[in-house]
Amino acid sequence: MPSKKIMFFKLIISLSLAARSTGNEDDQFVYSGFTGSNLALDGNARITPSGLLELTNGTARVKGHAFHPNPMRFHKSPDGTVQSFSVSFVFAILSTDPDLSGHGLAFFIAPTRNFSAAFPTQYLGLFSDQNNGDPNNHIFAVELDTIQNYDLEDINSNHIGININNLHSVQSHDAGYYSNQSGIFERLALNSHEAMQVWVNYDREAIQINVTMAPINLAKSERPLLSTTFNLSTVITSPAYIGFSSSTGTVSAQHYVLGWSFGMDSLAPPIDISKLSELPRLGQKAQSMRLHILLPIGIVVFLFAVTATIFLLIRRNLRYAELCEDWEVEYGPHRFSYKDLFDATEGFKDKNLLGGGGFGKVYKGVLPISRFNIAVKKVSHDSKQGMKEFIAEIVSIGRLQHRNLVQLLGYCRRKGELLLVYDYMPNGSLDKYLYGKDGKPTLDWSQRFQIIKCVSNGLLYLHEECEKTIIHRDIKASNVLIDTEISGRIGDFGLARLYEHGSDPETTHVVGTIGYLAPELARTGKATPFTDVFSFGVFILEVTCGQKPIMKDTEESHLMLVDWVLEHWRKGSLNDAVDIKLQGKYDVGEACLALKLGLLCSHPFTNIRPTMRQVMQYLNKEMPLPELMPTHLSFCMLALMQSEGFNPYIISHSSSATSFGTMSSLSGGR
Ligand SMILES: Nc1ncnc2c1ncn2[C@@H]1O[C@H](COP(=O)(O)OP(=O)(O)OP(=O)(O)O)[C@@H](O)[C@H]1O
Ligand SMILES: *[C@@H]1O[C@H](CO)[C@@H](O)[C@H](O)[C@H]1NC(C)=O
Ligand SMILES: *[C@@H]1O[C@H](CO)[C@@H](O)[C@H](O)[C@H]1NC(C)=O
Ligand SMILES: *[C@@H]1O[C@H](CO)[C@@H](O)[C@H](O)[C@H]1NC(C)=O
Ligand SMILES: *[C@@H]1O[C@H](CO)[C@@H](O)[C@H](O)[C@H]1NC(C)=O
Ligand SMILES: *[C@@H]1O[C@H](CO)[C@@H](O)[C@H](O)[C@H]1NC(C)=O
Ligand SMILES: [Mg+2]
Repeated sequence: MPSKKIMFFKLIISLSLAARSTGNEDDQFVYSGFTGSNLALDGNARITPSGLLELTNGTARVKGHAFHPNPMRFHKSPDGTVQSFSVSFVFAILSTDPDLSGHGLAFFIAPTRNFSAAFPTQYLGLFSDQNNGDPNNHIFAVELDTIQNYDLEDINSNHIGININNLHSVQSHDAGYYSNQSGIFERLALNSHEAMQVWVNYDREAIQINVTMAPINLAKSERPLLSTTFNLSTVITSPAYIGFSSSTGTVSAQHYVLGWSFGMDSLAPPIDISKLSELPRLGQKAQSMRLHILLPIGIVVFLFAVTATIFLLIRRNLRYAELCEDWEVEYGPHRFSYKDLFDATEGFKDKNLLGGGGFGKVYKGVLPISRFNIAVKKVSHDSKQGMKEFIAEIVSIGRLQHRNLVQLLGYCRRKGELLLVYDYMPNGSLDKYLYGKDGKPTLDWSQRFQIIKCVSNGLLYLHEECEKTIIHRDIKASNVLIDTEISGRIGDFGLARLYEHGSDPETTHVVGTIGYLAPELARTGKATPFTDVFSFGVFILEVTCGQKPIMKDTEESHLMLVDWVLEHWRKGSLNDAVDIKLQGKYDVGEACLALKLGLLCSHPFTNIRPTMRQVMQYLNKEMPLPELMPTHLSFCMLALMQSEGFNPYIISHSSSATSFGTMSSLSGGR
């Protein structure tokens, strides 16, 4: 019994002795941060205020060392072989360039603390070109190398190696670890700015050196990254110093050790990861480096932005480019900006297309700010000739306001393009009603008669009532727009004028619409109020008969509406000429008046045609129509037209779609 007790005590004593011996500062230690530690430092090395061991601070071509203050007794008496030992440390490498970092750091065991002869750069502050590989170095090291040096047969620029007296590693491996579960190698970037842990274990019996590493948040893997057998008894001296060495070259980095533990003949105590200090953010040098990198990037981005802006401005300028000359200044209020018109019509989208005639396409639009509805007529026009006069007239017409005219709001000019802005008429043009296009209902007689009056009233205004005579030049059903109260308004006035001057000043063009053109126009090429009256006459017939000015008689032959009505009159069946769509519901007196007036207006002789004032008087029944016998009108318009040089056969074929005819004046005959 007592002996057992003694034994028990003995055990306790020996255990406590062992604890004391392992607790010996020189046999085992742990630094979870270096604040207050008395490491011996040299070169660039320092302990930062936050407790990091900074071996190099990013300065180029420096070295730094840190030693445990006391030499270690590795050799175990009595046989003098090197004991088993174990080291762990946490390190981090911060470099400004993610791809370049230099040169690395190493844990070492060396016989001296005098490394003044060692070189920085690839020598890692451990050796020099004189002593590299010399067995008298007695240096054991584990290197963390971030530069591939071919002289030293480095495997890559991110490796960990076991070095004995030599920078040429005994064994090396790409930095990383073998995952416990999968056994797969996971690479770690040494200069990732992340703290990583390294374990170095030496087994005296097996003379085996194992090196393992892991990210800071992972425990040590079972499988070491490096494992080699080497009898360190021949290398390590007694006593020996342990510590870290680091160096930079042209390429530099900040090398840090965050924590360190050591165990002689025992496991290195665990480092308390939670106590480790934060790594610094990139320092001043780094910031200037960052400027070096960021400034060019910034400049490039800035230049790119400037170029893009210029490009957009140019594109915008091209897209919205306008023509504006000095003489237009006075028309300022009548000028629209192209951008506004572009926006109003949603970029002249097809869905806003109202229709197109011989001069160009008409788009519906809504002005951006006022939300005012407009119709924009896009006229392609290359020649500058007559433009000035035309704009002057357009603007003067724009100043006119009459209930039977479509208000011209203004214009815009671009290269090769003229845009005229009108009031939008939601009911569209008269032709659509006459011919039942777009599902429009046909108009009854009183509406038609009303529209005829409106148009004659508008035309009277243009010819006689405004300051200066304005010739419309293109009176026809499609240029009469229907107001909300089913009254007519004349649109498109004066546009033909723009085209009257050909590129050759000797030739003039007859512009207007075939079928509405007075025969003398071919001869004289000169538009007069009487040429408008002629067109108006055809227009009256068109509205009354519901027929196009050039009718298709049979398959091949064509018939002028004028001739057709005349024929009915001669045969005494004038009523048969009235539009059958009216189904006989019309005022016979008014319809006959309209037909006769139409024929009178479209008389081939200008002196027989009435003026618009007279036309108004006839229509208002203030004056009776002059007694005319059909024999007085014994002409055939078709023959006349042909003798004047118009050929309705060709014309009607080529212009049936656009109802537009531009012909060179045939002043010299056919
Ligand atoms: N102010 C407007 N409001 C509403 N619709 C319009 C307006 N102006 C024109 N339109 C529509 O646009 C269509 C095309 O007009 P445009 O003037 O281009 O052709 P046109 O009158 O047939 O021929 P021309 O070129 O000889 O005038 C017209 O048929 C009409 O329906
Ligand atoms: C690095 O340390 C050296 C002294 O070793 C000092 O002169 C230098 O200014 C330090 N550089 C930085 C960026 O802290
Ligand atoms: C360190 O070593 C060098 C030669 O390598 C020697 O000149 C110098 O005196 C030594 N310094 C100390 C403090 O021993
Ligand atoms: C080295 O690693 C091997 C394989 O895991 C293991 O068997 C051996 O005990 C280790 N030796 C030391 C010194 O850790
Ligand atoms: C790997 O296995 C060892 C031994 O089983 C264990 O101590 C360690 O925590 C494991 N590491 C990881 C990362 O799971
Ligand atoms: C290691 O080397 C020492 C000294 O040369 C020797 O005494 C020892 O036996 C060697 N150990 C092994 C395991 O070979
Ligand atoms: Mg028109």
